[in-house]
Amino acid sequence: MMRDERRGAETPRDYESSDPLLAFRDRFPILEQTNYLISNSLGAVPASVAASLQSYYETWATRGVRAWEEGWWTLVADLGDLLAPLIGAGPGEVVFQPNVTISHAVVLGALDFPPGRNRIVTDAMHFPSILYLLQEKSRDGAEVVIVPSRDGITVDTGRVIEAIDERTAVVCLSHVLFRSAYIHEIAPIAARAREFGAITIIDGYQAVGTIPVDVRALGVDIYIGGCLKWLCGGPGAAFLWADPEIRGRLNPRLTGWMAHQEPFAFQPRLERRDDAWRLLHGTPSIPALYAARPGLEIIREAGVDAIRAKSLHQTDRLLQRADELGHRCTTPRDPDRRGGTVAIDVPNGYEVARSLKAREILCDYRPRSGIRLSPHFYNRDDELDQAVEAIGEILASGCWREHAATRTTVT
Ligand SMILES: Cc1ncc(COP(=O)(O)O)c(C=O)c1O
Repeated sequence: MMRDERRGAETPRDYESSDPLLAFRDRFPILEQTNYLISNSLGAVPASVAASLQSYYETWATRGVRAWEEGWWTLVADLGDLLAPLIGAGPGEVVFQPNVTISHAVVLGALDFPPGRNRIVTDAMHFPSILYLLQEKSRDGAEVVIVPSRDGITVDTGRVIEAIDERTAVVCLSHVLFRSAYIHEIAPIAARAREFGAITIIDGYQAVGTIPVDVRALGVDIYIGGCLKWLCGGPGAAFLWADPEIRGRLNPRLTGWMAHQEPFAFQPRLERRDDAWRLLHGTPSIPALYAARPGLEIIREAGVDAIRAKSLHQTDRLLQRADELGHRCTTPRDPDRRGGTVAIDVPNGYEVARSLKAREILCDYRPRSGIRLSPHFYNRDDELDQAVEAIGEILASGCWREHAATRTTVT
């Protein structure tokens, strides 16, 4: 095996000569011209999405309104079945939704917060969109208990468990934290919630597609995610799983005709379906579902266990390179608690991330976290080295200053 004595680590060739996942590279056109390290935000588009969207158009153009009965109406559930094995769910248990925030709103709107059982336990590291939604629940009588993070990277499992008691109605956490990629210890938290009769709602947006997920082994009630990031599926395609054991008790206030037993009877009163469709509402975004299918198929073909093994190797490598250059990383060192992203916190991180983009190294920056580098199964090791070395060069040369006045809302 070739070793790089200077770095004391495997050279790119070591891993890559035995890395079958690199065979997927040519299915992702953007990899030809960019160093794509931003799959935590927007996964690379598979080339086959072009044909899938063309088939959406052809169906519409040739079948017209018959498209609904010939496939469009059931697409939310068909795609759910394609996704289900990635989270250990069964057929018919997952339905697609427009985004992760709405999926949470559907579930939260099915719950009541009576005095004495009105607490929602969450943590300060949850994605802000979900925290905003939870805050709004105080209008329905909920009291939001926010467990703080001591280090801005992790959340102490013991503190979350202590916060759950007979007053808890809901425990709402992110499986993998978007800022630091810390993987929550969901199983013991979910066990405690179950002991006290509280519902667990887990946001797996930063988990599914990069770490193996098994909703039944985790013991959760609700699991939500989306295809935009690690599933390479583009915006507008999120998914919602509810444990069939509790699903029948969920009566969402945010509902609609897709949840009706006979939607085409157009009855004035809602008769909810008993299955996962009871969590649906209005017309789904069909083109988004066409765009999401190829990514799901590719991730299943690549296999999440192989993706995870490579991700651990690559996040290790990033941490090691960053350490060598003396950069501070805000990512867990424990591989069991680390998801797919390494965040490197350097001075003027926003501007440095913009400079990296100008060099075709795509990544993002988050305040209190740093520059997030997120390799996926299609990345080569030398791309990681290039990114970390470029951060050092940009800082040393001061060329990040060219981007000091370019702050935009979307990074
Ligand atoms: C963990 C997590 N949850 C929720 C969201 C937002 O999801 P959506 O825009 O689909 O509501 C994000 C987006 O980055 C996220 O990382």
